[in-house]
Amino acid sequence: MRILGTGSAAPKGVLTNDMLAEMVDTSDEWIRSRTGIKTRFIAKDETTLSLAREAAERALEASGVSRERIGLVVCATVSNEQRCPSLACFLQRDLGLREDILAFDLNAACSGFIYGLIVASNLVSEESYALVVGTEVLSALTDYRDRETCILFGDGAGAAVVAPRPSTAASGSAGLYWVSEACGNDEPLNITDFIHMDGHAVFKFAVETLIGNIRAVTKKAGLEPSDIDLFVCHQANERIIASAAKRLRVPLERFFMNLAQYGNTSAASVPIALDEAVRAQATKPGNKVVLAGFGGGLTAGAVYLTWS
Ligand code: ACO
Repeated sequence: MRILGTGSAAPKGVLTNDMLAEMVDTSDEWIRSRTGIKTRFIAKDETTLSLAREAAERALEASGVSRERIGLVVCATVSNEQRCPSLACFLQRDLGLREDILAFDLNAACSGFIYGLIVASNLVSEESYALVVGTEVLSALTDYRDRETCILFGDGAGAAVVAPRPSTAASGSAGLYWVSEACGNDEPLNITDFIHMDGHAVFKFAVETLIGNIRAVTKKAGLEPSDIDLFVCHQANERIIASAAKRLRVPLERFFMNLAQYGNTSAASVPIALDEAVRAQATKPGNKVVLAGFGGGLTAGAVYLTWS
């Protein structure tokens, strides 16, 4: 697939580590040293839809693609305020997209944007491009009495306009890889339940699958991890990314990170980081790029692409 344009949006509210230290027994030093997070954006008036709309508008503008050309909207989220109509249907309406298109939400937690790209890569055509969005208001699902989770999460949205590969592209230069395994409590949850997490188990899963997926996706593209110019991974914890970089023997500078400012925004994290990397010109034409996500479900996936 080709990514033609990216966009992102963050709410106006900012929650600092010092502010959290007034709410639970924690400190700026603990949070920064264990996670790398300094601040996170928190929605006040914003919703998953308003953030998604802003990010999508920016992605459409950056791509120069007309709204008539969009034939698919995939909206990845775990925190949409209502189940039906889907956020994707609201986006179709609010962005003034055609009505004869596919529009649906996708829940793969923090891997949602990667799964969305994988779905889009199979459905786009020259006549019909895709808008893939990750949007979250995780603050609504966060228990601000639980210091093990409330320090991690933030709100925001990111989006990308996706087109098929050019017919001239050499074969073997693309790669997709994914993993899904059920893990956790299978009792029905109330919609009002907060996020619960076994931090240690998720950490271990994250490092192992991030390494495994990066190896698998680069192998599928006929490359080694060390050939990759830029990695944009799910922004959960600096230590997860640093351990993966070390074990893959890739310099940490090749891993774009913005989690210090955003925290973990689940499905929004990869597209926000990708948009910031693009706008900071961290990726140049011809660069080999890997996007990788992992998270609740459990889910994980990686996508290899060439930046052009
Ligand atoms: N402030 C101060 N102390 C704390 C805090 C806090 N916020 N949270 C936990 N502690 C304490 C613990 O109680 C423990 O104390 P003890 O030794 O007296 O028992 C001590 O600090 C160490 O706790 P650990 O859990 O070992 O800390 P760790 O270094 O593993 O960091 C963390 C915890 C940050 C949650 C880490 O495990 C992590 O990042 N896990 C992955 C999370 C993730 O990636 N989630 C993504 C998926 S979520 C989704 O999909 C929506």
